[in-house]
Amino acid sequence: MTDSDLDMVLEWRNHIDVRKYMFTQHVISWVEHKSWYERCLKIPTKHLLVFQLQGTPHGFISFSQIEGGKIADWGFYTAPIAPRGTGQLLGKEAINFAFTNLGLCKICGQALSYNEKSINFHLRFGFQQEKILRVQDLDERNARTVICFGLLKNDWYMNQKGKVYVG
Ligand SMILES: CC(C)(COP(=O)(O)OP(=O)(O)OC[C@H]1O[C@@H](n2cnc3c(N)ncnc32)[C@H](O)[C@@H]1OP(=O)(O)O)[C@@H](O)C(=O)NCCC(=O)NCCS
Repeated sequence: MTDSDLDMVLEWRNHIDVRKYMFTQHVISWVEHKSWYERCLKIPTKHLLVFQLQGTPHGFISFSQIEGGKIADWGFYTAPIAPRGTGQLLGKEAINFAFTNLGLCKICGQALSYNEKSINFHLRFGFQQEKILRVQDLDERNARTVICFGLLKNDWYMNQKGKVYVG
């Protein structure tokens, strides 16, 4: 992601079909977005990526490395108008990038319990469900349930061997 992607990523992030599945669900202002971006740029273990298909941007991914850099939490969304199948392409590309370019040995994901698409997405890529958390929002009254997933590098490459991914 570069400065020139800022407007586009904010538009995607604020779309109701994305925002309703995020931990923070308010409409993000330009000032908040810009300050988040500038904060991230200063953190060497944070990676903000735009997924492109034939030069057209179709989604956003972030990796935040923890545990000495070998493990990362990821977050992602496809552009609300992205064609069917984009999520699968984004996922495969991002996972390969993380294990190859970032040198990770594990990717961790978290999905709100009502986000069936993300839960299926993680399972389809071979993530294991590792725990279920009850999270109390700071700014809302309700507690929410979060499903935590993990994917090991070894499992990913074992699963990919000889396998043609059909979605
Ligand atoms: C989470 C997210 C990336 C998942 O993407 P996705 O649903 O796998 O996206 P795809 O377009 O690849 O797949 C859509 C459906 O078409 C199917 N599909 C994939 N490729 C296909 C193809 N070539 N032809 C027909 N169908 C296809 C998929 O199997 C999927 O089926 P499902 O709805 O039964 O799961 C996307 O839904 C999203 O951005 N959601 C909002 C933000 C969000 O929740 N982010 C994650 C927070 S944890």
